[in-house]
Amino acid sequence: MEKIVVLTGAGISAESGLGTFRDEDGLWAQHRIEDVATPEGFARDPALVHGFYNARRVQAAQAQPNAAHRALAQLQRDWPGEVIIVTQNVDSLHEAGGATGVIHMHGTLAGALCAACGHRWTAPPEMTVGEPCPACNAPSARPDVVWFGEMPYHMDQIYDHLAEVGIFAAIGTSGQVYPAAAFVHEAIAAGAQTVELNLEPSAGVSSYDETHFGPATEIVPQWVDRLLGRH
Ligand code: APR
Repeated sequence: MEKIVVLTGAGISAESGLGTFRDEDGLWAQHRIEDVATPEGFARDPALVHGFYNARRVQAAQAQPNAAHRALAQLQRDWPGEVIIVTQNVDSLHEAGGATGVIHMHGTLAGALCAACGHRWTAPPEMTVGEPCPACNAPSARPDVVWFGEMPYHMDQIYDHLAEVGIFAAIGTSGQVYPAAAFVHEAIAAGAQTVELNLEPSAGVSSYDETHFGPATEIVPQWVDRLLGRH
């Protein structure tokens, strides 16, 4: 039975009330990436960066999973083959919707990381500048999210899955950030069927065999029902 790999982006959490990045009212319309999502920005003004992620962490903790998150969890439960969810999102709504084994390639708001010793722990709702690391005590705590210019997490694992994928679906992502935007090409090389489910065509839409446009809470449950109805 085909292995399914699903790549999700901010669009799948939009209807849960979490902002996307590149929509006109998105996060990158309100903040400069270089100020809040780069190691240089954090070194320059850690209070600004903690403030940005504290606000998102508190908002994400109050958000509820939506029908799209829940539909993917149902696909994991009912599909006879493996279903791997790789997300660019740093919220935990896939897990809250019942998904398991979610691969967070850009890290998570729930995680804290020590920039000095690499120790990881569960972040408090609000992180403060100079917060000591519970392991080495250095004042080097940062959000455990991947900033621009840093390597995304779990890439070897992701490419291993893509090498044997049968159905690859991209959901709620504009296809403008690499390496995630190139996963579809790995899937094509593996001979997979490729599907884009998005509010509107992404930058990579021409690479997909099949496309469905509309709100994720509508098109994702419909897609999952069709897949499960086939088996
Ligand atoms: N349903 C489905 N898709 C939606 C919805 C919705 N309700 N609302 C918005 N979208 C789509 C938009 O049309 C857009 O194509 O979701 C996509 C969101 O794109 P981005 O805002 O660029 O988010 P994403 O693709 O996840 O960004 C990737 O960029 O800034 C970095 O690290 C950040 O993980 C992020 C990465």
